[in-house]
Amino acid sequence: MTGLVGSLRPPRKPAGTAPSGFGATQRRDRWWIAPTVQGFLFTFLALYLFFSGIVWTPLFGTGYEFEGYLSPLFSPLIRPDWLPAFISPGLLILWIPLGFRATCYYYRKAYYRFYFADPPGCTVAEPTVHRGYAMETAFPFILQNFHRYFLYLAFIPLTFLWLDLIPAFFPEGQPRLGLGGVIFLANVILLTGFSLSCNSLRHVAGGRLDCFSCTRKAQVQHGIWQRLTALNRHHMAWAWVSFLSVTLADVYVRLLVMGVISDPAIHF
Ligand code: FES
Repeated sequence: MTGLVGSLRPPRKPAGTAPSGFGATQRRDRWWIAPTVQGFLFTFLALYLFFSGIVWTPLFGTGYEFEGYLSPLFSPLIRPDWLPAFISPGLLILWIPLGFRATCYYYRKAYYRFYFADPPGCTVAEPTVHRGYAMETAFPFILQNFHRYFLYLAFIPLTFLWLDLIPAFFPEGQPRLGLGGVIFLANVILLTGFSLSCNSLRHVAGGRLDCFSCTRKAQVQHGIWQRLTALNRHHMAWAWVSFLSVTLADVYVRLLVMGVISDPAIHF
């Protein structure tokens, strides 16, 4: 009789089994704060940059360069004669940094969490409706695999952003130390840190090697890999501060163009 009652009881969950159901977790910290804040900030910045880079100038005619300062969204400036006025020159270059950021390993983790809740956080259950998903093995997310190629391309606008420092600090050949120049310098340093801390670059530099000490070339690659690894540890921070700095640099130029602010500067 005792054996029969025992067999009618529901099976007990083995100890350590994770709770199931969307959002279920054994975590006791406020794990949802980071994805929520990041989601709002990311959406706000992305919408602003889309508006500024693609819509603002064709629709309202607002300029994007002011006395040696060129908004980073438009660098290098490609403005062919055949380009209709309703198409922003930013469109011809923005697809590179956009593709680079959109396929970045860190941003993927972030927006999979805050847009798709897939998963919402570490050890937090995802929606069961997503069970059959193919994610990065099917279109469109299979395009994430192009990240390495966007990395190579990203060094083109980055090089031009460094070159943009020349007119920023020497407009018409005259030295000038302005707040805009300082913002531009900080921005290009942060963007360089973001690019150099890329996971793919670390892999290309040496992460794919099986032996770091076998050849002289591998030893050199090991040294580079170590330095990139040090940067890579803070890739998330590089991603956010460079996202903010590029937005700030663009806002600064737009405000100058509209006459809302003036550029505090020392002219030599
Ligand atoms: S992993 Fe983030 S830029 Fe490459």
